[in-house]
Amino acid sequence: MIRLGTLEFLDIVDYVREKYGINLEKKKVLIECRLRSELDRCGIASFKDYMKAVRADKSGRLAGEMINRLTTNYTYFMREPRHFDFIRKTILPQAAKNKTDYQAWCAGCASGEECYTLAMLFQDFAQENSAAPAAHITATDISESALERARQGIYPIKEFRNLPPQWQEKYCVVKDEKSFEIKKFLKKNIQFKNQNLMEPENTWKKYDLILCRNVMIYFDTASKKTMISRLENSLRPGGYLIVGLAEVLPREFTTLEFVGSAIYRKPE
Ligand SMILES: C[S@@+](CC[C@H](N)C(=O)[O-])C[C@H]1O[C@@H](n2cnc3c(N)ncnc32)[C@H](O)[C@@H]1O
Repeated sequence: MIRLGTLEFLDIVDYVREKYGINLEKKKVLIECRLRSELDRCGIASFKDYMKAVRADKSGRLAGEMINRLTTNYTYFMREPRHFDFIRKTILPQAAKNKTDYQAWCAGCASGEECYTLAMLFQDFAQENSAAPAAHITATDISESALERARQGIYPIKEFRNLPPQWQEKYCVVKDEKSFEIKKFLKKNIQFKNQNLMEPENTWKKYDLILCRNVMIYFDTASKKTMISRLENSLRPGGYLIVGLAEVLPREFTTLEFVGSAIYRKPE
């Protein structure tokens, strides 16, 4: 069995931290277990040679496969519901007064449950308010396998039972006893793409709302700082940034105003 030596482990930790911001310092066993079958697949006999191959592969495919295996993509519909309540009761009514075009971004969307929850909320609001702005959602992640599940929008039936009955009917189709699918019209309004939050933001769009929840819990302090400043620069004035309930933006890292419950706003 191929073992992960200490130097090899530290090399992988450095590589992943530098490229993606994720801190795997305490995850030796996880790295070894999740990457071993990738070494087998590639026919590579040691972690040292594997990292050589990852660095040499200019197509980025090996690095992409590595990050597919190392990321934690846990998510579910209506996670941290108080954020969706705030969006429904405060953010969307404000947008209806001031905006015709509304840009939202789920950064670190994993398998898509978060951006579909947002899409359902936007759709409900548009049906109830003639002044609702045209809302567009961009959903991004570094894990291509998670993004592929998000694009497909097919989920286990047990997740269906947790959705409100009116959403089950309006926005989902039961495929069989094991799975359900998000309706096509809802999928069409979401642009999915592979985007690394550690890459320079000069080409990023500007957004009215950014959800970046439960992503930076896996980051070290320096990467958090970089990411927070990039997200802040990508907000339009008056726009909101929502992070996970277990995450805090240190005051010295941001000029965003704290609104409450991990919700921040860029001054107008
Ligand atoms: C635990 S999931 C959170 C999903 C969702 N936002 C939620 O709160 O339920 C974290 C996601 O962040 C993604 N991620 C981690 N580092 C990233 C980076 N540097 N750029 C983009 N996405 C990243 C992971 O691939 C993973 O899918």
